[in-house]
Amino acid sequence: TRRITVRDIALAKERGEKWPMLTAYDAMTASVFDEAGIPVILVGDSAGNCHLGYDTTVPVTLDEMTMLSAAVVRGTRRSLIVGDLPFGSYQEGPVQALRSATRLVKEAGVGAVKLEGGERSHEQIRLLVESGIPVMAHIGLTPQSVNAMGYRVQGRGEEAAQQLLRDAKSVQDAGAFAVVLELVPAELAAEVTRVLHIPTVGIGAGPETDAQVLVWTDMLGLTSGRVPKFVKRYADLREVMTGAAKAFAEDVVGGAFPAEEHSVH
Ligand code: KIV
Ligand code: NA
Repeated sequence: TRRITVRDIALAKERGEKWPMLTAYDAMTASVFDEAGIPVILVGDSAGNCHLGYDTTVPVTLDEMTMLSAAVVRGTRRSLIVGDLPFGSYQEGPVQALRSATRLVKEAGVGAVKLEGGERSHEQIRLLVESGIPVMAHIGLTPQSVNAMGYRVQGRGEEAAQQLLRDAKSVQDAGAFAVVLELVPAELAAEVTRVLHIPTVGIGAGPETDAQVLVWTDMLGLTSGRVPKFVKRYADLREVMTGAAKAFAEDVVGGAFPAEEHSVH
């Protein structure tokens, strides 16, 4: 078996095939998705919220992303692994972006990186691609800018829609192999998908994008509290794990565990 490459991703759009992407932040979870045939795994900086206990993605460091990405690469054989560049690791300019992306490629072994921003990140994307690092772009809602934009639907209204289209064309022109569209109206995401020749990866962007991504802890029902409207839950891991932890605690307190079959003599 060989790894899926960005070339395979380009062919999928030519053939009109849709594909799924999931996040993962550790080797074991990633191995499950790899074996389940998920072609692209994103080591998202959503690790900040979902794995590291921060309130937003803003505090996540490049050291943390490098460690988590390396674990995901080690746990997988076939999936293309995309590593997120965290806030502050590429905004200074193309040279900083290249230095940061190079760490994810060399130290963690990712096959591609992702960064946020359309026109504003054009030069960063261009230098990375020229240097041989495939880039997935990310436009619409960009969570690293939460302090400036909040978590609101993007691209509503004619002016905002035109800006989103400009951002999408800009990242394509810079050489991105795919672009995430986060929390944009379905009609606009459909238009972007028709206009671009690179695949669009939707999250809260309706049914017409070329691919769909979900945060794994949302998708499997591990996240506590409310999840966004665009999430579909395919399991209730939080309930399963809570039940198991309580059963274990009861067994220990009541003396039912360990039993004879769990003991050595
Ligand atoms: O960090 C992340 O999980 C992401 C996806 C939501 C696209 O950027
Ligand atoms: Na992210």
